Amino acid sequence: MSEQAIAFIRNNQAACLAQLKDFLSIPSISTQSEHQADMQKTAAWLTATMEAIGLQHVQIMPTAKHPVVYGDWLNAGPDAPTVLIYGHYDVQPVEPLDLWESPPFEPTVRGDNLFARGATDDKGQLFVHLAAVNALLKTEGALPVNVKFILEGEEEIGSVNLEAFISGHLELLQADCALVSDTPIPSPDQPAIVYGLRGLALFELDVRSAQRDLHSGQYGGVVHNPLVALAHLIAKMHTENGAVTIPGFYDDVVPLDDEEARLLDEQPEAYLAETGARKLWGEAEFSPNARTGARPTFEVHGIVGGYTGEGSKTVIPAAATAKLSMRLVPNQDPDKVAAQFIKYVHQLAPDTVEVAVRRYDWGPAALIDRHDPAVQAAAAAYKKSFGRQPLFVREGGSIPVVTMFQQHLHLPVAMMGFGLTDDNLHAPNEKIHLPNLYRGMEAAIHFLKEYAHRK
Ligand code: BES
Ligand code: MN
Ligand code: MN
Repeated sequence: MSEQAIAFIRNNQAACLAQLKDFLSIPSISTQSEHQADMQKTAAWLTATMEAIGLQHVQIMPTAKHPVVYGDWLNAGPDAPTVLIYGHYDVQPVEPLDLWESPPFEPTVRGDNLFARGATDDKGQLFVHLAAVNALLKTEGALPVNVKFILEGEEEIGSVNLEAFISGHLELLQADCALVSDTPIPSPDQPAIVYGLRGLALFELDVRSAQRDLHSGQYGGVVHNPLVALAHLIAKMHTENGAVTIPGFYDDVVPLDDEEARLLDEQPEAYLAETGARKLWGEAEFSPNARTGARPTFEVHGIVGGYTGEGSKTVIPAAATAKLSMRLVPNQDPDKVAAQFIKYVHQLAPDTVEVAVRRYDWGPAALIDRHDPAVQAAAAAYKKSFGRQPLFVREGGSIPVVTMFQQHLHLPVAMMGFGLTDDNLHAPNEKIHLPNLYRGMEAAIHFLKEYAHRK
């Protein structure tokens, strides 16, 4: 029975909060090399915490970049099922800093929320599972299942070394299911299980003309401005109605069946309220939930080039660059789509400029069987802790490890998240709703109990 462990969670909220604040105060920004030492420090913080909880085989395992932290508890024995719990301890950069109401690495409680970079994505959510396991071990001295933790430091940079890590440690990571808390729910009273995630392909597009910057009076009208050429290229990637024009882009997209289309249509959406946008945009023939969950998209993240300092400078810049990506849906092959895009760019590019496309990381979309026992255990755990049946949703974001778990370890993945859609992930004033954090710990306890029964 889990009453004692639940009571432990309720009686130890202050200590838990203090510990989470300590974790959040280390700036584990994976993409910035000046935070290399902070990544190591965060990994060390995790191993110390996991040892204190009573986990075994706790270790920092190096990869080509940021380490994986591993720890397990296998005393439930070989006949009990094993749950592989994943989380990522790396976070996104914090810019623009001046928009934070309290500094990103000085975790601060305001009202019901704890504000800090990583509060919801994903340090807060991974901490939920450490706290749950701690509560069970402190009160019952045992877990109902075997548990393995795999905590990575490269999710926000595309989990670049994780696939090699997983295929190199198949035995160590063997389990019956994976549990991931890295997704939002629509409201504190409405939990949601994510059964679909989009994939991602990242690019940089360079456009060059002259060998150096030019005076725009001397050369304007005879040398093609790379910023203008780049803007034209980008503008050609969408129709006026928001569809992507890359030939073949939608070829492998599987249409939603009627049941799923209805499910997505019926789900609440608050896109206007959440974003403050004037009006929604995109493929009007699909519902907004279908557009983020089940349709591929093309985005521009940044354009660099020319003079952007104070005042003016009349220049034709020598080069311009754009950072781009595509979100992909199940059955789309990232390699195929990338090749289609690169071919199209070269077709469209005028012969007045030189165009180069660089590919960064990518990963395919994920789709999970909603009827799997692990997913059903998550639904039952939500019901017990949040008091409501979860929705089943497809999310537009990407979590590369989910596909890796499916492909290399053949695991079903239960995505049971505790963040809220308005937690400001990747943005200033990231937060976690504290009641969700504590309820999440209860849900995590219930999950382990439920899964032990179901397997
Ligand atoms: N936790 C998010 C993924 C997410 C966000 C899922 C919102 C569902 C809803 C994750 O940390 C993330 O930000 N992933 C990146 C992956 C990329 C850098 C490879 C993303 O989706 O941009
Ligand atoms: Mn995340
Ligand atoms: Mn993220």
